[in-house]
Amino acid sequence: MIPPRSFVIVPAAGSGLRFGGPLPKQYLPLCGATVLAWTLRRLDGLQAVAMAVGLAPGDPYWDVHRPHIQTPLVTFEGGAERAQTVLNGLEALAGLARPDDLVFVHDAARPCVRAEDLARLWRAACDTEDGALLARPVADTVKREGAGGVSLATVDRRGLWLAQTPQVFRFARLKDALFEAMSAHALVTDEASAIERVGGTPVLVAGSADNLKITVPQDLVLAEMYLAQQGL
Ligand code: CTP
Ligand code: MG
Repeated sequence: MIPPRSFVIVPAAGSGLRFGGPLPKQYLPLCGATVLAWTLRRLDGLQAVAMAVGLAPGDPYWDVHRPHIQTPLVTFEGGAERAQTVLNGLEALAGLARPDDLVFVHDAARPCVRAEDLARLWRAACDTEDGALLARPVADTVKREGAGGVSLATVDRRGLWLAQTPQVFRFARLKDALFEAMSAHALVTDEASAIERVGGTPVLVAGSADNLKITVPQDLVLAEMYLAQQGL
């Protein structure tokens, strides 16, 4: 069987409200480059046909910080929510991608994703029609909150996972599922939830703890440490 071709969508149109500061977190300096540049360099290893980067309208930083990578880069305008940004990306690639091609969606804010995890995710995705995602089993004890911020109950954590990105799906399947979810105003915080809504069961691929999403300032310190530990 011929392996499917890959495409990549990187939503990078957020403003980083939780991180704060004047510069969107994807453009912050990290180990001699920017967060976004590290993310794109890591994804370059997928040898995709094209990588589509979703930018905020009028983004003044991209042209200055655009990294040099092998994969052809295209940009498109992001939406008000992450899911809309991803849908815009799928539309931007619609003329290039075939229905059965793989499309990887990866947060700009996850610059530490490991090459070996990308490779395992790709292999899992080749074997399924429902897609696959990197995820981590929940390690902490999980509490259900009651009124007034008290701990009401302990939730059995067995079988619970924390979703990361990349998440990878067949192009047409993801586009249809995401379009349907957005039309229904459903809450879709990741691509897998859109696929689950239409009855799909994406494969959970155990990822690494260092594939963190930079959300608050202390995460940037961790990312720096992880990249150094990984040998950059
Ligand atoms: N993102 C996007 N379009 C949006 C919102 C988010 O492309 N309308 C991107 C972000 O740039 C980020 C990824 O989706 O790479 C994950 O989102 P998140 O970590 O929540 O980033 P922000 O939305 O920028 O941060 P915050 O929620 O703190 O404002
Ligand atoms: Mg956000």
